[in-house]
Amino acid sequence: MSANKGKAFDKSMKLLMVGDSGVGKSCLLLRFVEDKFNPSFITTIGIDFKIKTIDFNNTKIKLQIWDTAGQERFRTITTAYYRGAMGIIIVYDVCDQNSFDRVETWYKTVQQHAKEDAQVIIVGNKCDEEDSRVVSTQQGEQLAQSLGVPFIEASAKTGLNVSDVFYKLSELILEKSGDDFQQPQAEDSVDVSKGASNSQSSSNCC
Ligand code: GTP
Repeated sequence: MSANKGKAFDKSMKLLMVGDSGVGKSCLLLRFVEDKFNPSFITTIGIDFKIKTIDFNNTKIKLQIWDTAGQERFRTITTAYYRGAMGIIIVYDVCDQNSFDRVETWYKTVQQHAKEDAQVIIVGNKCDEEDSRVVSTQQGEQLAQSLGVPFIEASAKTGLNVSDVFYKLSELILEKSGDDFQQPQAEDSVDVSKGASNSQSSSNCC
């Protein structure tokens, strides 16, 4: 009989989503957790999070995914969350050159504020919008390669590759930590009541 039978999860991970405002962070999270898409733009206020438990090679992993506001005015609040993240998703919009040009800046901010062993993945979102695309897949791949991190193009609208983003990052965290895997510590948490405000969109957990 499995030692973990009846347990809600075996491992727990904290992930963080960053990137410019409007690139589709909240929509990617909504697609992954609730399989829904919201075509209207409701900008995140401060920070929000959702939880989803995934099954990875018979290991139940509880993902606590923090969705940060891309707007500059929330930067002080959002950078406080980098330290607790085991994995970070940097998102840009394939139809928005500026958001792609800023990926390196986001990467530097991650290096400055996150733990040294935090894993990073770069995501080019909105790849359903082929007619409006300004950043090619090759450009995304090259940038990710130069930073030494994996890259995926996805669409929160169609759902293409969305699960892959979260599974890939979880896999990386498991791989890199090996037997040293540590559950998130209490000191990695941020008191939501003190630091963050909720998104205007609904959160399915607290
Ligand atoms: P902030 O909360 O301000 O940081 O923005 P965000 O990155 O969370 O963006 P959000 O998820 O709110 O999406 C911004 C807009 O892009 C919304 O109108 C979404 O409907 C749209 N959008 C998000 N993902 C996609 C996608 O994959 N394809 C298309 N076509 N539109 C998308």
